[in-house]
Amino acid sequence: MLRGQVQAQQRRAASKATGAVAGDVCVRRAVSGARASQPLAAAAPSRATAAPRRRALRAAAAAVAAERAVVGPNPYAQPAGKGLGFYTGEDGFLYCDNMRVDDIRAQVKDSPFYLYSRDRITANYRAYQKALEGLDSIIGYAVKANNNLKIVQHLQGLGSGAVLVSGNELKLAIAAGFDPSRTILNGNGKLPWELELAASAGCLVNVDSEFDFDNIAAAARKVGKKVKVLLRINPDVDPQVHAYVSTGLASSKFGIRNSHLQWFLDAIKAEPMVELVGVHSHLGSTITKVNIFRDAAVIMCDFIKKINDEGFKLTYLNIGGGLGIDYTHNPSTKLPSPTDLIDTVRDIVKGLGLTLVIEPGRSMVATSCALVNTVTGVKTNGSKQFIVVDGSMAALIRPSLYDAYQHIELTAPCGGPKAVFDIVGPVCESADFLGKERELATPEPGAGLVVHDAGAYCMAMASTYNLKMRPAEYWVADNKLATIRRGETLDDHLRLFEGL
Ligand SMILES: Cc1ncc(COP(=O)(O)O)c(C=O)c1O
Repeated sequence: MLRGQVQAQQRRAASKATGAVAGDVCVRRAVSGARASQPLAAAAPSRATAAPRRRALRAAAAAVAAERAVVGPNPYAQPAGKGLGFYTGEDGFLYCDNMRVDDIRAQVKDSPFYLYSRDRITANYRAYQKALEGLDSIIGYAVKANNNLKIVQHLQGLGSGAVLVSGNELKLAIAAGFDPSRTILNGNGKLPWELELAASAGCLVNVDSEFDFDNIAAAARKVGKKVKVLLRINPDVDPQVHAYVSTGLASSKFGIRNSHLQWFLDAIKAEPMVELVGVHSHLGSTITKVNIFRDAAVIMCDFIKKINDEGFKLTYLNIGGGLGIDYTHNPSTKLPSPTDLIDTVRDIVKGLGLTLVIEPGRSMVATSCALVNTVTGVKTNGSKQFIVVDGSMAALIRPSLYDAYQHIELTAPCGGPKAVFDIVGPVCESADFLGKERELATPEPGAGLVVHDAGAYCMAMASTYNLKMRPAEYWVADNKLATIRRGETLDDHLRLFEGL
């Protein structure tokens, strides 16, 4: 049975058990530890209704047990206050590590806000570290996924390298204390000042095109430092992802023209300030099948052999970004782990005595975070129902940009009638939605609503469109809540015009 069907069965059974009827609305209980809000009709069951309710409760429990038997324990549910990252406690409330999200909402003045679990980030990093045991490797955290300084510093402290796509990201990485020899500057349009900074800092640099090579060589000569480079090659393997996050096909704007490889090898041989140390490929993001990485690695190794036959001695195979994540929150979904991924390329890398570089962004931070919103109201246009929240496409654009699904739920148990809603923000665009056609209990204004898996490509892509200022960021660390970035204010915006 599909999870949705199991849930629907549970809901039907549970609503029979509680006697919930259309018209019950969610009442947020102020008392800590309260069970799911109960419709008033359920508060004092009569003798006549008690037996059918008991039967219905047993049916609901059986449905839960049946689901567990099929899919194993639900990773998105844990004992209250005992889990890691975001999960629903057995009291029905949403938690971030040991803290109830609603208690955090009561402490934090801003809404919406981004909330992270620092320990979840650590666990995500450790999973890659463990997967790479026994291999020479660099984990280069892709800063583009989330450039919060505190998060970047945390990953640096765990031993990560950094993968950068702009001079400012490089400056941030330097400020965060990264060892430049474990950083890589990527990009199809690197500017001279960015390349000069990379050359003087001693970063590895990817060569993306003929003009990019000329600019790298010029930067190396200008700062008087030899630059170690990797050739970005498109293995032309289909990553089977959304076109906007597919980057390794022959038609991509990234990477060199493979048929022009010899031009690059000759140019590098003739340029004493540039040293070729490896090859790089990045197929795309959100990849969930490890054989795709293997297919690309095999092709890349053929390139390495061909290049070494020309007298080079390459040391790095960079396989680009990491794995996709389970945005669906379907407990029966089983995605590959970092160990599954690395094990598919381990023999190839070992065989050639290479250092493996992997550049995970999404899988390092996405699951550590939720965008926490407050419900402004519920409305209908006659055919559709909407939950209007204070967060929007300005704070989190992935659904509008890629039609991406991010799981949405209320932060507290809610006895309101279930309905199918579009969850929308207040921004003046029809594209302003956070989720479409989600079945949720009808919330009251003021209820908390989260968009899950918001740690990657969410805050990093936020804008101030409609002057909705970029939200504050918090994390739970050492069992406490801490601010890791202040929310932007209108004064920050007005300051840009001072003295003009
Ligand atoms: C060159 C490069 N490396 C790494 C990444 C990170 O990919 P992901 O977030 O899927 O791990 C990206 C993102 O698209 C990228 O462009």
